[in-house]
Amino acid sequence: MTTATTAPKVYIETVGCQMNVLDSELVVGTLKRQGYVLTDTPADADVILFNTCSVRELAEEKTYSAIGRALPRKRSHPETIVGVIGCMAQKDQEHVRKRAPLVDLVVGTGQLARIPELITAARKTGAPQFALSLGRADGGRHEVEASFESYDPARDPQMRPTPFQAFVRIQIGCDKFCTYCVVPSTRGPEQSRHPDHIVNEVRVLVDQGAKEVTLLGQTVNSYAHDHGDGRTTRLSDLISRMHDIAGLERIKFVTNYPKDMTDDLLDAVRELPKVVKYLHVPVQSGCDDVLKRMKRNYTAGFYREMLARCRERVPGVAVSSDFIVGFCGETEESFRKTVDLVAESKFKNSFIFKYSERPGTKAAGRFPDDVPEAVKKRRNNDLLAVQNANSLADAREWIGRAVEVLVEGPSKVGVKTGGPVRQLVGRTMTDHITVFDGPDRLVGRTVTVDVTDASAFTLFGTARTAEHVGVETTREPEPLAPARRIGLAVV
Ligand code: SAH
Ligand code: SF4
Ligand code: F3S
Repeated sequence: MTTATTAPKVYIETVGCQMNVLDSELVVGTLKRQGYVLTDTPADADVILFNTCSVRELAEEKTYSAIGRALPRKRSHPETIVGVIGCMAQKDQEHVRKRAPLVDLVVGTGQLARIPELITAARKTGAPQFALSLGRADGGRHEVEASFESYDPARDPQMRPTPFQAFVRIQIGCDKFCTYCVVPSTRGPEQSRHPDHIVNEVRVLVDQGAKEVTLLGQTVNSYAHDHGDGRTTRLSDLISRMHDIAGLERIKFVTNYPKDMTDDLLDAVRELPKVVKYLHVPVQSGCDDVLKRMKRNYTAGFYREMLARCRERVPGVAVSSDFIVGFCGETEESFRKTVDLVAESKFKNSFIFKYSERPGTKAAGRFPDDVPEAVKKRRNNDLLAVQNANSLADAREWIGRAVEVLVEGPSKVGVKTGGPVRQLVGRTMTDHITVFDGPDRLVGRTVTVDVTDASAFTLFGTARTAEHVGVETTREPEPLAPARRIGLAVV
C-alpha cells in the first residue's frame, strides 16, 4: 500500500537578464528531479527562491521588497525555506542576511547545483546556508574559474519563454571589466564552454521540441574555446556546426561586444540561413571621454565603422544597442554626442539606463556619481524620444513587405473573441515583433505575414495561410496563456 504524500512546492521569482532566466530553468529542473512541483504562489510554497540581479540598485531594492512579501509565509510556516540566489547573493553575501535575516539560503551564480543539498542542510541544522564562488582576487585564475563552472544542465521545458524557444549558455562570466559593471564579479572569469557539450545540448533541446535557440554570453562574440592542441573554436565555427541540426530553425546570440565583431562571424550570419539577422551590440555612449572612463576600449568612431561593416557584410541586418546616460562626468556636450550617434545609427531599438553607481566597481572608487538624478531622467527621456522616432521609421519601412514569423503565442495586446481566430505574436528573422490574426494551431510554426501597418515596436499584418482563409469556423479555440515574454526582464 502506498501512502499519499503531497509533493513539496517551489516558488521562484526571477529578475535580471536571460542568464538568470536560464539559471532559474536549471534550478527548477534540478528540484523537479527531487520530486518538487512548481507553484505560482509563494503562499503555499515549501521553498521560495529569489533569483536576483545586481546590475542596478533598483533591481536590488525590488528584490528586498519581494523578500519582504515572503515574510508572512515564513512567520506562519517557519519550516518554509527562503533562498536568495544568483548575482546579488554572490555580490553581497553576508549583507543579504543582515538586511533580510529570515533568509535560509544564499547561493551564488556558480553554486546553483547545490540547492537541493543546501535545502536539506538548512532544514536539518536550522542554520542559514551559504554557497558562494571565490571572489576574483581570492585565488588563482584556474581556481576561481572552477568555482563558477555551471553544472550539467537539468533543463525544465516548463520554465522556457515558450516550448519551442530555449536559451543555451555558451560562455560563463566576463573579463571586460567595464568600470560601472558588477557582472565580472557576480559571474566570475570568462570561460567558453566546450563546443561538443553545447552542440549536444542543442540536439537534446531540439529533440524536446525547441525550434529556436538563443546562445547566451555576456560578450557572446568573444566566444573562443581553446582545445589545448592549437585549435580554437570561434562563435562562427560553433554556429556553423549547430546549423546542421535537423529540426532547428533559428539560431540567435546575445550580447555582442563591439571590439569582437569579427568578419568571420558576420560572414557566418550572412551565409547561414538559420541564423537570425539581428545583432545586439551595445555602444553605451557616443562620447570618447565617457567611453574611456567606462573602459569600453573603443571610440565612437570605431563603433561607427563596426556598424557600417555589420551592414555591409550582412545586408538588411537589424542592430540594437544599450546606453547608459548620466555616467560620471557626462556633460551636456558628451550627451549630445550620444544623441547624435543614436540619431544617425538607425538602431532597431535601444535599451537606455540611468547610471547606477555600484559599490565595489572601479567607477564607484574612481569617479564621483556627479550627474543629478533629474538630469539623468531628462537625458533618458530625450534619448528615448530620438530612438523611438527611429524605431517607428524603421518599422514603417516594413509595410508592404512579407516577413517570416516564428509564432510565439497569443498576443498580449489583446485577444479577439467570438471566433476561432485570435491575435498571435511572433518575431521575424530580424527580431521584429509582429502581431496578426490567426488560429492557435499556428503557434510554434513559421508563417509568412504581409505587413500592413507598424508602430515603433510592433509590425501588424495578415498571415498567408490556408487555415486563415476560414476553413475552421465551428470550433472556439481553447484559451491559451499569453506568451511569456521573460527574455528581456530588464529591471
Ligand atoms: N554583457 C552585456 C550586458 C551587461 S548588463 C554587455 O556588455 O553588453 C546590461 C546593460 O546594463 C549594459 O549593457 C549596460 O547598458 C547596463 N548597465 C550595466 N551596469 C550598469 C550600471 N551600473 N548602471 C546603469 N546601467 C548599467
Ligand atoms: Fe559588464 Fe562590460 Fe562585461 Fe558587459 S562587457 S558584462 S557591461 S563588464
Ligand atoms: Fe544578469 Fe543582472 Fe547578473 S544583468 S548577469 S542577472 S547582475
